[in-house]
Amino acid sequence: MILDCDPGHDDALAIMLAAADARLDLLAITTVAGNTTLDKATLNARRVCTIAGISRVPVAAGCDRPLVAELRVADDIHGESGLDGPAFGEPTVPLAGEHAVALMRRLLLDHPEPVTLVPTGPLTNVATLLRDHPEVAPKIREIVLMGGSTERGNISPYGEFNIFVDPEAADLVFRAGLPVTMIGLNVTHQALVTPDVVARFRALGTPLAEACVELMTFFGSAYERVFGLADPPLHDPIAVARVIDPSLVACVPAPVAVELTGAHTRGATVVDLHRRTGALPNAQVALDLDVPRFWDLLVDALTRLSGSP
Ligand code: BDR
Ligand code: CA
Repeated sequence: MILDCDPGHDDALAIMLAAADARLDLLAITTVAGNTTLDKATLNARRVCTIAGISRVPVAAGCDRPLVAELRVADDIHGESGLDGPAFGEPTVPLAGEHAVALMRRLLLDHPEPVTLVPTGPLTNVATLLRDHPEVAPKIREIVLMGGSTERGNISPYGEFNIFVDPEAADLVFRAGLPVTMIGLNVTHQALVTPDVVARFRALGTPLAEACVELMTFFGSAYERVFGLADPPLHDPIAVARVIDPSLVACVPAPVAVELTGAHTRGATVVDLHRRTGALPNAQVALDLDVPRFWDLLVDALTRLSGSP
């Protein structure tokens, strides 16, 4: 799989899970502007790889702004750096020379088997890939994205951040005719980082686990301040978990449209769960997470990553 992300606290744990689980072959980590600017998201991806000891996966920077909209970052949630909390040293993991979209294209065309794309930020890179290089389509096994919601949003009443930041890109991806799985807020809000979860991280006793505790502490205080939620939802790793073990996330097929013009609802995912529109399903929409097994999977991943001091 290729992880396309905008780290981001929950993206950071998605990187760790994707790199650690033996059932996945993580071919690349690509970055996109979203939670923070592209430069900061890319630096953060390299920081995460450095502290987690992930040294053999290329990290490439992609698009620095949405297809049409102005970039809106989430510094209220992720802080000024995009990954506030721990003190990071200078990353030792290098930046690949290739643009993320070129790297994705090359990896897809070169790989003997179809590859799963896991976008956990705005869909700008993936949409650009599909728009400019349609020849890759048969090499994409599936797109398992964190974004959207069957219910309310988090950046606007009905807009989820990743879709809201680049709705035109999301529209292109949902209408591409490829297998898409949507891991939306309705399911990610089942994975709440409770004090018990933080205690499990802390009990691992490694510098990496301690950094995760610090990340979750910052993330939790931001969620409390902005949303009044005591325990923050860990969105992005759920998309990775779905690829590792599909039985962790129950999905239903449904038509999904991205609202591009609504006066109050631009960036909303309109999910026709009751199939009232007559449209054909274009996505598997996640509804339920096996919460205990998800946390076991993540803690196990953190146990297996050696990290670096
Ligand atoms: C999504 O938005 C970002 O802030 C998170 O990293 C996640 O990908 C949740 O709406
Ligand atoms: Ca993200």
